[in-house]
Amino acid sequence: MRITIINGSPRKNGATAKLLKEIKSRLEKHEEVSVSYYDISSKPIQTCIGCMRCYNTGICHMNDYAEDLNAAIRNSEGLIIGLPTYVSNIPGILKNYIDRGHFVIEQALKNKYALSLVTYEIAGGNTALKTINNLFRYSGGIITGSILCKVKFNTNPLSDRMTDRIYQKADTFYNAIRTRKSKRIIDVILNYIAIYILIKPFVLKSRDKYTYVIDRWKSIGVIR
Ligand SMILES: Cc1cc2nc3c(=O)[nH]c(=O)nc-3n(C[C@H](O)[C@H](O)[C@H](O)COP(=O)(O)O)c2cc1C
Repeated sequence: MRITIINGSPRKNGATAKLLKEIKSRLEKHEEVSVSYYDISSKPIQTCIGCMRCYNTGICHMNDYAEDLNAAIRNSEGLIIGLPTYVSNIPGILKNYIDRGHFVIEQALKNKYALSLVTYEIAGGNTALKTINNLFRYSGGIITGSILCKVKFNTNPLSDRMTDRIYQKADTFYNAIRTRKSKRIIDVILNYIAIYILIKPFVLKSRDKYTYVIDRWKSIGVIR
């Protein structure tokens, strides 16, 4: 069972990282689990410039760390993204990667399991959590749960209570993958609206230009 964890904080040893590493150790107690852990801030990720080449060829002309993360997700059955709240939303460094991740247009999380973890100090954590969960949903992912953690900046978030909570979410995530749990009906409906009502007509209008997207959708059964 391959799982990718991405720490979306600019800080490699902050509260988000500590919680994610605890989830990683919990998951690694199962011998069939192999976890790849990435810090978004490890290497530079260039900004998407909207050239649309990936829609046509599937390949971004900027071959950097974003492509390593995309490959890791492609090869995994489960994805966990953790992030701090920055100015009531997700940090720019993570958004920069998401723009390069082809998530929604390629349905990159179709049939993959997803867990989100958001830390915050005062307010706005819910907005950040909603943003990341919508990304999972619209990308075809199967959301097994979310963790919203109120943490004082630069303190250790791992109280006994918090540890119990994240272990429980990690166990639910693992069991969902193991038993191939199906998507909740609300996520099916929201993904359907995003793809079939909003994005599909837009892509089909430019089918000559967006050949890679069309091929990808055929290969994963979005269209025939
Ligand atoms: C630039 C910046 C903006 C922040 N904005 C918010 C915010 O809007 N709401 C909030 O509750 N916490 C905010 N925080 C606090 C962090 O979300 C919180 O401390 C988080 O746990 C830090 O995670 P990390 O240690 O993994 O980086 C902000 C922190 C920074 C550095």
